[in-house]
Amino acid sequence: MDYDVMLDIARRRRSIRLFKRDPVSDADIEKVLEVGRWAMSGGNGQPWEFVVVRDAPVKAKIAKIIHERTSHSYEFELTRFPEYRQPGALADGAKNQAKLVNSASAVIVVCGDPRTFQASVLVNQFLDGEWDIFHMNVGNAAMMICLAAASLGLGTAWLTTTYPPREFELKELLGIPREFKIYVIIPIGYPDYVPPPSYRRGLKEITHWGKYDQARYRTDKDIREWLIKLRTKTHTSYHLDEITPTKKKPA
Ligand SMILES: Cc1cc2nc3c(=O)[nH]c(=O)nc-3n(C[C@H](O)[C@H](O)[C@H](O)COP(=O)(O)O)c2cc1C
Repeated sequence: MDYDVMLDIARRRRSIRLFKRDPVSDADIEKVLEVGRWAMSGGNGQPWEFVVVRDAPVKAKIAKIIHERTSHSYEFELTRFPEYRQPGALADGAKNQAKLVNSASAVIVVCGDPRTFQASVLVNQFLDGEWDIFHMNVGNAAMMICLAAASLGLGTAWLTTTYPPREFELKELLGIPREFKIYVIIPIGYPDYVPPPSYRRGLKEITHWGKYDQARYRTDKDIREWLIKLRTKTHTSYHLDEITPTKKKPA
């Protein structure tokens, strides 16, 4: 039974990019963060700190920062061949990302204190990639938060904010110490629509028993073709205007 519940939550957790006006209670936000707190981390370093923003003008400032970040991403996307461009970074992408921040009942800013990296084995930090363990730690907490929210019928999104100078602006806005890293912004709220079905690669395709099955190695051509197909599968999730049949308007 536990497994069924777990699988159901894993499948039900979806990126939600527009929320109803209904407020999420502080108690529910605390429940969600409580699960995040139990994430695993290298050496139990627990680098995470969560800043919860409710104030509409502050959310609007965050939305503006996200808007600028996504607009910037768009310029980069234009340098790729059209079929490879990330749908979230296309023309409406920036607008939609800002809208989702503004419509959220709260925004959870997940940051981490890099000084905690000393909790982990030092060689991992320096030879496996300077910050790998630290990144993974914070990512684990963020994922737990999103799953916990899904278990309460709440929607979340994952907004990347790792690129300076946007990260600096956010730190200044929220009084987050300069040496911290902000990883992800998680807007949270009640979903305002039923998301289109999500796509995942098949279990058989990604699982190798005993050793890696070379026959299933994807060539560069396979990957290129897959990426193009992937874009068509994920496009609608970022372009909410196209979700007409399932879209539920708020009362
Ligand atoms: C590391 C990471 C970065 C992501 N960055 C963004 C982002 O900046 N904006 C956004 O709308 N979604 C972002 N996402 C959400 C993914 O697009 C989403 O999880 C994926 O398309 C699968 O859809 P689903 O979450 O609905 O299953 C991110 C997810 C992860 C794990």
